Amino acid sequence: MTLLELKNISFTYDKGKEILKNIHIQIEKGSFTGILGANGSGKTTLIQLLNGLLKPVEGQVLLEGRDIKKLKDKEVFSKIGLVFQNPEDQLFSYTVYEDVAYGLKNLGLKGEKLKNKVLDALSLLEISDLEEREIHKLSFGQKKRAAIAGVLAMDPAILILDEPTAGLDPITASHLIKILKRLQLEKEMTIILSTHEVDFIPYNCDQVLVLSEGRVRVEGTPEFVFSKKEVLRESNLRLPRIGHLMEILKEKDGIEVDPTAMSISKARKTIKNIIKEK
Ligand SMILES: Nc1ncnc2c1ncn2[C@@H]1O[C@H](COP(=O)(O)OP(=O)(O)OP(=O)(O)O)[C@@H](O)[C@H]1O
Ligand SMILES: [Mg+2]
Repeated sequence: MTLLELKNISFTYDKGKEILKNIHIQIEKGSFTGILGANGSGKTTLIQLLNGLLKPVEGQVLLEGRDIKKLKDKEVFSKIGLVFQNPEDQLFSYTVYEDVAYGLKNLGLKGEKLKNKVLDALSLLEISDLEEREIHKLSFGQKKRAAIAGVLAMDPAILILDEPTAGLDPITASHLIKILKRLQLEKEMTIILSTHEVDFIPYNCDQVLVLSEGRVRVEGTPEFVFSKKEVLRESNLRLPRIGHLMEILKEKDGIEVDPTAMSISKARKTIKNIIKEK
């Protein structure tokens, strides 16, 4: 079932240059979509159109088949949770606890129920120790995790994250991606994230869109998208490291590895097969 759809979207800020051109996107319920794009390619603009924060100049955004323009903000925001690229744009309470509790209080939660929800979200992001801390004294990565906890606590049907792993250390970043994958698989949460980090894409995304200068240059499964090496490079992106290794083994060393192997497990399999054949 299509949950969210962009139809023929174009966008400009303040009647200036066209930032997004003729964008069509379909997001299926329970899917995991990656929006890949270099700096300035239009990821943040696209993401803010997806939840109605920005309004398209042309085209329509449909949530469950209904034009987002005709829906009340409250209805849209209760279904779509957005984590901003910069946590400073998201956090505004004094302490971490208060910030994560804010949206839940607006939904009418109180007492033990409220407290448990907040503590669960903090524990999921492994920031229980930050509960009473003042937000302005946190590190960037701590702020980022607090902002994500606040959105996750609301249990949105669609969770959109603008560069969620940027600025996180490698263990925290992969932990976050694992949490998102679990939410997708266990709760059928629909996940959309933007990034320019390509390595975790093959393991996690069902659908990938490559954005360059405001246009979708290629879209499809990770396997299909990463087979379009030239498009990726023209878009200031690269293959996942594993895919690059496969490319070198094949083209420079003449070893017949599976060129679509973009993950460690697939690469391991194709390399073991070649060793066995010899
Ligand atoms: N408020 C604004 N007013 C005018 N132009 C803007 C505004 N916000 C973004 N832009 C321009 O729109 C284009 C796309 O910006 P956007 O922030 O969507 O890119 P991005 O892919 O998210 O980049 P990054 O990876 O740096 O976050 C850029 O050329 C940017 O300068
Ligand atoms: Mg951005």
